[in-house]
Amino acid sequence: MKSIEYREWLNQHVKIGREVLWVTQAEVEELGITRQEVFDLTGKALAYHGRKEVEMPAKIGIHPKTQPNTLMHAMPGYIPAEYIACLKWGGCFPENREKFGLAQTSGLMVFNDHESGLPVAVTDAVWITKMRTAAVSANGAKYLANANSTVAAMIGCGVQGKEHVKFMEFGLPKLQKILIYDVNPAAMEATIAECQPEVKAKIEKVGSFEEAVKGAEVVFSASTITASPSPKIRDEWITAGQTLVMADMHTLYEDRTMKRANKYLVDSIEEHVYFAGIGYYPNGLPEIYGETGEVVAGIKKGRESRDELIVDNNTGMSVEDAMMVRAVVDRALENKVGRLLPL
Ligand SMILES: NC(=O)c1ccc[n+]([C@@H]2O[C@H](COP(=O)([O-])OP(=O)(O)OC[C@H]3O[C@@H](n4cnc5c(N)ncnc54)[C@H](O)[C@@H]3O)[C@@H](O)[C@H]2O)c1
Repeated sequence: MKSIEYREWLNQHVKIGREVLWVTQAEVEELGITRQEVFDLTGKALAYHGRKEVEMPAKIGIHPKTQPNTLMHAMPGYIPAEYIACLKWGGCFPENREKFGLAQTSGLMVFNDHESGLPVAVTDAVWITKMRTAAVSANGAKYLANANSTVAAMIGCGVQGKEHVKFMEFGLPKLQKILIYDVNPAAMEATIAECQPEVKAKIEKVGSFEEAVKGAEVVFSASTITASPSPKIRDEWITAGQTLVMADMHTLYEDRTMKRANKYLVDSIEEHVYFAGIGYYPNGLPEIYGETGEVVAGIKKGRESRDELIVDNNTGMSVEDAMMVRAVVDRALENKVGRLLPL
């Protein structure tokens, strides 16, 4: 479909310039977009990013003082080949659960007609963020881990941890065991109850960071992001051949582990340089081998030998949300889900 044809299709459903479509969190979830689709969409987003076929300025953000370590980020993304122009406005407030009984991650997406710039839809971003983050980690593992890895670990068993467990096998099809660890034992029980029915590999809870890390070829983490790392995983537990895929930056690792990796990748160099600029890497960023998307796009080599220690640090990119929100908006319009509001 050509760009103008896509606009005409949108305009048949939403009177552009006079209406916007509002899609709630529950409606987004119920559209029936599968994990395989999300894995493929995020893989495509990474590849577009790797080929520099996107416009994606580094996040800008504010950091409310009501709780420590909070952030609210504005994340615009433009993917010309997919006719996607959008913005995510999302927040992470780590103490929300304790203080308000609310999730730490929240957000909205604004999807625009890229021909005229006008807003077409506003959708919840929580499901999009949850799904695309875990799918990006699984894509990272597909290209950077040993392909025949049989044991993975998940550290942090909250919203992201559970979704990571459900996505791992898309990137690591030979997995037989997933070790899980969380400082909150109830979170591990909940992860097993929710994920085991959907996952072939056996999910096993372990009692320490050490057990999780030493037993796994691929270690995923999604705990909390703190402005300064508070290492829990000792460098001597990390061995040759492991792949460390993190959605929570360096929080859990010692600086020397990050710096001795044979390959250290990030999703966006620009983003991580921005984070370094506001103090997130007090020990400095390691030397960056490349971006996750460059490997997905085949521009840079992923794993080259069984023994490489590889780190993949993904902080999340708007182009991933962008691929997802177009799928959400298209599916919602096709199925007449959501409600039209006057602009
Ligand atoms: N990279 C990205 O694109 C992206 C996107 C969304 C969220 N995140 C990050 O993912 C992380 C998890 O988010 P969530 O929505 O799942 O939060 P959540 O609150 O639902 O879950 C976090 C879990 O981590 C556990 N935890 C906290 N500190 C821990 C520690 N030191 N060791 C082990 N477990 C620990 C908590 O008990 C909780 O179960 C956050 O750091 C968030 O900022 C990253």
